[in-house]
Amino acid sequence: MSKSLVSFPFKEENVEVFVNNIRAAADIPEVGEVLCVGARENECYTQSLEAVKGDPALKDSKVTFLVQERLGSKRPGKGDGMNTALKYFIEETGFKRIHFYDADIKNFSKEWVLESEKAANMGFDVVRHYFPRARTDAMITWMITKTGFSLLYPDTQLPFIEQPLGGELLMERKVAETLIKDPDVLAQSDWGIDTIYTYKMVENGFSMYETYMSSGKDHALYPGLDALESMLYECFSVIYYLQGGTGISHIKHRIEHASGVSNRVENKLGFDIQKTLCLLSEDWNEKQKSLLDLFPPEIGKKMRENTERIVFDFMDDANWYTSYRTLLENFDPGCPDWRKLLFKLWVSRVLWYTTNVALKGYSYSFRHLYRMIDGYARVSKKVETLEDLRNRGE
Ligand code: DGY
Repeated sequence: MSKSLVSFPFKEENVEVFVNNIRAAADIPEVGEVLCVGARENECYTQSLEAVKGDPALKDSKVTFLVQERLGSKRPGKGDGMNTALKYFIEETGFKRIHFYDADIKNFSKEWVLESEKAANMGFDVVRHYFPRARTDAMITWMITKTGFSLLYPDTQLPFIEQPLGGELLMERKVAETLIKDPDVLAQSDWGIDTIYTYKMVENGFSMYETYMSSGKDHALYPGLDALESMLYECFSVIYYLQGGTGISHIKHRIEHASGVSNRVENKLGFDIQKTLCLLSEDWNEKQKSLLDLFPPEIGKKMRENTERIVFDFMDDANWYTSYRTLLENFDPGCPDWRKLLFKLWVSRVLWYTTNVALKGYSYSFRHLYRMIDGYARVSKKVETLEDLRNRGE
């Protein structure tokens, strides 16, 4: 009997890429049904549905289209889409496993599904894909999610999960049952969904396997950091609300060795730097400037200088640690000025990292990022100081 439901949450995708992915998933004997959850009934929804109906290759496959339900209480977004799929999986099917994949992966193939199936067959409750990413990609993952987990939960596996915001994963039925019953998960209708899924998987003690997809994920990248503002805010807000969690169990966790990276990913240096620089000097107001009084004086002073000239050379690993702690203590998720300030602090951090680390090469950058997360855990555990972070060699 078929064991798995493959689900693609989607919004406005390239219809050809999306339908190819549906076809690839439906062709796998282990897959009993493909579920496509659209953000709304837009052109992409109608065209993809029509293409699937008329496709002879899909005539014997079960492909279901749904518009996502309004399940959560945050901004309606990807979280409602993923939770709609979980709910459908539990209420409408008897399948053993659910897979999630982003609909826009241009190089999606059967391998993505089959690799997860193999790891699940080894007895793991959750399988997550990870893959090589450009050194200036994943700046929310590294600077917000992994950093936040390292500050708050240094003794757990949370900071060491390779891609905690990854949208390519498999869950055994018991995991989906636990998540969909959890009010925090159901509420998280926005970009925060990946962070809350990751956290709850670990909190509930589910075992996790991370498979390495060396081919990487060929998909649309953002142009400038401004495109990530709402994702940044929504991901940070989850970490902010997760403060104070206790008793996180030690899970069985295996990470496959990362074995190679394509030249395309290795040589890519991400976003539009020129456009991003301007973001630091725009849209300041008196409230934002006064919030900087809550930060250590030299961070507040340097950030404030951005009202006149662009300054980010101070936002090294140690100052980012301190800024992040200050944000955790003082942030107000409902305040638009805090949201803007969070964004500007993060932009200065990403620019510091880009110019001091990323320019030195791919391997150098990842050595730095992994050591940064280890270092943050040590500082949080008080076995190292911020000075140690500044002084360590590369
Ligand atoms: C991340 O940081 O992982 C986001 O996907 C943006 O790249």
